[in-house]
Amino acid sequence: MPQKRVMQIKEHSLVAPDTWRMVLDGSVSAKPGQFVQVSVSSTYDPLLRRPISVHDDGPDGLALLYRTVGRGTHMLAEKKPGDNLDILGPLGNGFPVPAEQKVILVAGGIGAAPLCYLAKKLGEAGKQVIFLFGAQNATQLYLPKTLIPSLTALEKATDDGSTGHHGLVTELMKKYLENGPLPVYSCGPEGMLRAVVKTAASYNAQAYVSLEARMACGVGACLGCVVELSQKSGKTYQRVCVDGPVFPGEEVFCHGC
Ligand SMILES: Cc1cc2nc3c(=O)[nH]c(=O)nc-3n(C[C@H](O)[C@H](O)[C@H](O)COP(=O)(O)OP(=O)(O)OC[C@H]3O[C@@H](n4cnc5c(N)ncnc54)[C@H](O)[C@@H]3O)c2cc1C
Ligand code: FES
Repeated sequence: MPQKRVMQIKEHSLVAPDTWRMVLDGSVSAKPGQFVQVSVSSTYDPLLRRPISVHDDGPDGLALLYRTVGRGTHMLAEKKPGDNLDILGPLGNGFPVPAEQKVILVAGGIGAAPLCYLAKKLGEAGKQVIFLFGAQNATQLYLPKTLIPSLTALEKATDDGSTGHHGLVTELMKKYLENGPLPVYSCGPEGMLRAVVKTAASYNAQAYVSLEARMACGVGACLGCVVELSQKSGKTYQRVCVDGPVFPGEEVFCHGC
């Protein structure tokens, strides 16, 4: 069973527009791609916890990177260092460990949150990490400064051309896949994930995508987060919170391909 724990906020700061980085005192021993369910209030309002990916975890604490989009995340943004936070986790399956020496990570906007922890762990395991990061504009491309030197390549793409490639982040994948398939790990908006899976498939590369779904219990009991997947054996229904959030991309998007 996932553990419920109260952790103290060590650091909490705005790192980009509407984007907060929070560091909690202690570790949850998470694997990259796992998430925690955060209780944003000490009362029953709002009742449901909010799922947030593990952005970093280890002796320096548990870090979360989140964007304020609604009531729950705005309540979270009001918390101060020294406040306590009720956390459930780690939850979910996490990204599979690649056999290959070189991997491609494709992040869209706040989807970079879990990929930063994945990049760090892959780097520590001696893998070469190509990090492709897309967003609407330059201000949304936040990465921890300590991560950047460990990356083999970092390329950026923006919708408005304010930095990096002017266009879609998926257009950056091609030059890295032309010399042979590499595993691709991705997190971001659904449209981007669909394009990542399609691009990877066109180079015979395996893509894994981390999905976001509205969640209630977070532990597999309520069936509130079920998605339809296409597996070799046929259509199946899986819970994003316990069977995911990471799934083979072709099972999510390439229905029948
Ligand atoms: C496994 C997982 C990991 C996640 N990791 C992160 C993370 O690291 N950083 C981060 O900023 N966000 C992450 N999210 C999304 C985050 O959970 C939602 O943004 C948050 O729950 C919104 O709560 P709210 O009360 O502020 O917004 P609400 O008032 O509940 O909703 C505001 C808007 O956000 C949309 N929304 C709400 N919840 C979700 C959701 N789960 N997925 C997609 N859209 C949603 C709503 O449709 C609505 O448009 C993750 C979601 C999942 C499922
Ligand atoms: S959120 Fe309840 S089963 Fe996934």
